Amino acid sequence: MADTRTATTRTATLLIDGKEVSLPILTPTEGPECLDIRRLYAEADVFTYDPGFTSTAACASTITFIDGDKGILLHRGYPIEQLAEKSHYLELCYLLLYGHLPKAAELEKFETLVTRHTMIHEQMHYFFRGFRRDAHPMATMVGVVGAMSAFYHDSLDINDPRQREIAAFRLIAKMPTIAAMAYKYSIGQPFVYPRNDLDYASNFLHMCFAVPAEPYDVDPTLARALDRIFMLHADHEQNASTSTVRLASSSGANPFACIAAGIACLWGPAHGGANQAALEMLREIGTVDRIPDFIARVKDKSSGQRLMGFGHRVYKNYDPRAKVMKQSADEVLDLLGIKNNPTLQVARELERIALEDDYFVSRKLYPNVDFYSGIILEAMGFPTSMFTPIFALARTVGWISQWQEQIADPQLRIGRPRQLYQGEAQRDYVEVEDR
Ligand code: CMC
Repeated sequence: MADTRTATTRTATLLIDGKEVSLPILTPTEGPECLDIRRLYAEADVFTYDPGFTSTAACASTITFIDGDKGILLHRGYPIEQLAEKSHYLELCYLLLYGHLPKAAELEKFETLVTRHTMIHEQMHYFFRGFRRDAHPMATMVGVVGAMSAFYHDSLDINDPRQREIAAFRLIAKMPTIAAMAYKYSIGQPFVYPRNDLDYASNFLHMCFAVPAEPYDVDPTLARALDRIFMLHADHEQNASTSTVRLASSSGANPFACIAAGIACLWGPAHGGANQAALEMLREIGTVDRIPDFIARVKDKSSGQRLMGFGHRVYKNYDPRAKVMKQSADEVLDLLGIKNNPTLQVARELERIALEDDYFVSRKLYPNVDFYSGIILEAMGFPTSMFTPIFALARTVGWISQWQEQIADPQLRIGRPRQLYQGEAQRDYVEVEDR
């Protein structure tokens, strides 16, 4: 692929203390143009300052595009709404990894390859047993996924494209097994081995909810709804956990270590941990009549309370994933015959009030993907502690696609941000008796 990052004719001029610095303007396929500041320090002896990366593109990518103002999410150019309706998770995995929709034979081969990697090394079962039973499944996942590098030595060489591909298959295939085992371990039930005759989502449901003592039939409609949840979480361009994976990988770290770093980052309540926090918040509110008090608390900045499942760094419009998720919540509760679900009632009313309230309107705060996902997962029987592990297993393909893209990039250099140092200027050491 030609390097379009340098094929530019337009420039911007920066004037610093009378000195002109010319900055190339890079043109994207979609979205804002980027000022190329790579030579700024060498030419003008200044850094740029952008904590939180609100205006900084940390990489070039061809995988996912978000238009936050319009509420658009595209994977390899395809809108998420179309993918959620017509595709399925493993096909989306193929699309993210390889850049095109697979032909039937390509998809079949891919599904077979991924399915053949669902079991984990038997010795890893003992590794699980070292954790406390009451450990959060995300804590277990960070540890176990990091430990994969101690078990799969033949897919650690990041300079070998074949080993990278095998690492990708292993991670996508084993993550549901690891997440389900973390859950089973936390509730004291025996691990359930993967079943390769089941599709990706059905296999996960089976590993979570089957017990050896009796048969467990997976409901295909629930499996389809879970598959859609996986799709809605599959990738989201340069979010915090993906950027963590990229930064970790820029040093040449192995894929399992990098994905473990991504899982650790995802756990935070401002990111993937928001789905658990959102459902706990809805439960805490409890009834519709308590919403005004809660909203008042959110508006009082000193309370530290945020409306979880609302707001997004990029979306300044309704998160397109939340629209699909809301529709799925209705369908799943309907299917399960759950009527007048109090949590859903609180969620709907909270959303209605927030979308009319000037505090949220003026800040462009809309429901995000995490606002309704917990309601569906809870209805399926998952405890809140499993919400973020499910996000992690679904996001693994995004992390691994972005990791592959970065390693294949000839311009890859170690990620090494600069800083605005505001500490003490140089000073001399003071002997202890003189302090
Ligand atoms: N509730 C109340 N106020 C909020 C919220 C919220 N959820 N989100 C942002 N604000 C306010 C914030 O107080 C600030 O107000 P002001 O301008 O008066 O200081 C303004 O909106 C801008 O907020 P910010 O913190 O500068 O925005 P950010 O882009 O740094 O943060 C966010 C984005 C997602 C971390 C934030 O909106 C948030 O904490 N939301 C709740 C947690 C959540 O749902 N996270 C999941 C995000 S989607 C899935 C994922 O990425 O994992």
